[in-house]
Amino acid sequence: HLLFLIKRFLAFQGATLVLSTSPPIARHVVNAAFDRQQHGKQLAALHSLGNIVGETRTGDTMVLNSSAEENLRSLIYDKASKTSKLTPSGLLLSVLQQDAEIRIAGYRLITGLVARTWCLMEIISRPEIINILTDTYTETKKIGMEARHRCCEAIYRVFTSSSKLISDPAFAGMASKLQEAIRRGPYGARKHAEAQPVVMTADRF
Ligand SMILES: *[C@@H]1O[C@H](CO)[C@@H](O)[C@H](O)[C@H]1NC(C)=O
Repeated sequence: HLLFLIKRFLAFQGATLVLSTSPPIARHVVNAAFDRQQHGKQLAALHSLGNIVGETRTGDTMVLNSSAEENLRSLIYDKASKTSKLTPSGLLLSVLQQDAEIRIAGYRLITGLVARTWCLMEIISRPEIINILTDTYTETKKIGMEARHRCCEAIYRVFTSSSKLISDPAFAGMASKLQEAIRRGPYGARKHAEAQPVVMTADRF
């Protein structure tokens, strides 16, 4: 019940507000979301940040007004620059390398965050992130598989809305990986390694 109220509060207006105070209240959320020292707090913060960036909102209510968006971007770049990860993609990758609970919150965060061009570029330029997201074996529980799959769909949807990116050969491999992962569905239809013909060179005695 409380979570439901918090989610409602963090719909568009609330999200704009927590990013618009000076200093932004959301700074605490961003700091905790990427602090690996406190698991419970980090998990809650990642889910809150997922709500702030609009994972639970739809379509054009995901992105906030220009000043809130600018604050969001600078909070995340700021946080990244103060850690050993240095970039937002580094922060997000480290989230995806943690346990399943944290990863699920991470998928939610990326699903919302990727609606921003700067985040899309961070994600699609980081093969390690795409590899985790498109790996059928990353998740073993239904909820994790579904969150991972939704995340792939969100990235692909935003990516394919840019004709410039679609036509850039640098992203062709990444795009087909995402496409393949989406096609396999959330539960994977786990593809078994196909039998490879083994070519042996003839040994001479
Ligand atoms: C964005 O919304 C906040 C909170 O409602 C407001 O304070 C701020 O002036 C708005 N910024 C722009 C650029 O509209």
